Parts: sequence; C-alpha cells; structure tokens
Amino acid sequence: MNVLITGASAGIGRELAYLHAEQGDHLLLVGRNAEQLFETKHFVEQRGGSAVVLPYDIGQSLQIKALLRATENTPVDILINNAGFGLYGEFIETDLARELNMIDVNIRALTHLTKAFARRMKIQGGGRIIQIASTSSFHGGPLMSVYYATKAYVLSFSEALADELAPYNIQVTAVCPGATHTDFAKTADLATSGLFKRPGIMDAPTVAQLSFDGYMNGKTLVIPGRSNTVYVFMTRFFSRRKLVQMTHQLQAPANH
Ligand SMILES: NC(=O)c1ccc[n+]([C@@H]2O[C@H](COP(=O)([O-])OP(=O)(O)OC[C@H]3O[C@@H](n4cnc5c(N)ncnc54)[C@H](OP(=O)(O)O)[C@@H]3O)[C@@H](O)[C@H]2O)c1
Repeated sequence: MNVLITGASAGIGRELAYLHAEQGDHLLLVGRNAEQLFETKHFVEQRGGSAVVLPYDIGQSLQIKALLRATENTPVDILINNAGFGLYGEFIETDLARELNMIDVNIRALTHLTKAFARRMKIQGGGRIIQIASTSSFHGGPLMSVYYATKAYVLSFSEALADELAPYNIQVTAVCPGATHTDFAKTADLATSGLFKRPGIMDAPTVAQLSFDGYMNGKTLVIPGRSNTVYVFMTRFFSRRKLVQMTHQLQAPANH
C-alpha cells in the first residue's frame, strides 16, 4: 500500500511510518526538514518498507499544490494528516503570526489534502484518511486556546466525513492522543506549563501502535491509552464551563 504521512520527520508521524514499513508499505514522507525525513526513510527501509522524501511546507498553499502535483501519479491508499503544532501562553500575549500559521497547518492544509486525496480515492475505489486530532478536541483549552480550537475542528470535520465518505469506501478515522513525549512540548513553548509535568505521559511508539491498530481495524474514533480513554469518557459528566476551568488549572505554570 502507498501511505502518505505529513509530519513524518519526527514524533508520532515518524513512528507511524515505521509501523507501515513493517507491513512492507511504500511511504510518502512529508515535512519541512529534509535531513530528518531522509533519516525516517533510512529506518523505513531497514524495517522492510520503501519511501520517498517529499520536503514541503504544508503551511503554504503553493507548496501544498506542488505536493499534490508531485504525487499525481502515485495512488495513495492511506493519507495520514499528522503534521501539527501548538502554542502555549495567554492569547493576549502570544504571537499572532505563529497562531495563524498553526491554523494554516492544523486546519487549512489538513482540509486541502483531505479534499484532494478523497477525490482521488473515490476514483481509485476507496482508501483510508487518518486525521490526528487530540484529547484537546473535546473542550476549550485556556493558555492554548487556538490549538484546542484547531483540534476541535479536526474531530468535528473527521466525524462528518466518516459518514459522508463511507459510500465511496473511504474510511475516515480521527485519532485523539493525549500528552505524548515528542518535540511537541518544545515547539509549543510548554516548558513552564504543568501539562507535561504530570506522571503517565505516553511515549510516541506506544501512541502510534495503538493508533495504527485502531484505524487499521476500521474505527472512526481512536483514543490511544486507557487514561486518555477514561479522561474523554469523564468529560461527559462535567459542564463545558467546568472543563475549561479545570484545563486552565492543569495548564497553568507548574510553580503556581
Ligand atoms: N505530542 C502530544 O502531546 C500530542 C498530543 C495530541 C495530539 N498531538 C498531535 O500529533 C501530531 C504530531 O505531533 P507530534 O507530537 O509528533 O509532534 P512533533 O514531534 O513536533 O512532530 C510534528 C511534525 O509536524 C511536522 N510539521 C510541522 N509544521 C509543518 C509544516 N508547516 N509543513 C510540514 N510539516 C510540518 C513536523 O515536521 P517538520 O518540522 O520537518 O516540518 C513534524 O514532523 C500533531 O498534529 C499534534 O498536534 C500531539
């Protein structure tokens, strides 16, 4: 199978590439950091897969169009929209340019690629689209308000498309990891937050394995890990206002 993964240069995306490699899949590895993508390709080949490196910045529409042209002749069976990042801080203080870029990557690029590949998959007779959302998809998140909102979009969009695209034999899965040890916390300036200082933060290989098992089994929603599953279940028993207040406390600087 041909599997395109955005954000395959690090973290969860890279681990998903390794799992597909073990099945003998052909990986189309997308990200900005070509050196790290070639490193992923090297380990993909060691695990029995094959890969091409596609170094594109999907935060830019022109580069998404170039990526779509570069993949025109490769029928993609599985699209994994994994690339994404967050930003920590009070909204009134945080950098608007980074937040608009976050919306471009987490929402615009994901939507653009989903439409383009869903159309191709319809012609091919089917496929799978995997969207990496988050446990943050389920309520607002003070001190990371834009990030939580982007992930709410991803979950809502994916659940709707799972229903809409089913007649075309296209399976859509939203994967909702909780806090996971990757470069995410560093990129999001989360060093002072209490979020990653709790025990029980998952590692990327485990999150990838549980995600892979879930979407390959045809699930529409995958929440990797028992504590994340319990957490999302518990959100049903609190008011939306209370959930936001508890998240604010959780994300406040750890020394407060
Ligand atoms: N780690 C967590 O706690 C956590 C929890 C829930 C959900 N998630 C989600 O999981 C996904 C993967 O994150 P991660 O934790 O694995 O973080 P990560 O290690 O920082 O990886 C992020 C990946 O996204 C790629 N990326 C970022 N901007 C891009 C752009 N403009 N164009 C192309 N690629 C871009 C990066 O590649 P380049 O730098 O090479 O461009 C990198 O490969 C994200 O959607 C994230 O929101 C993470």
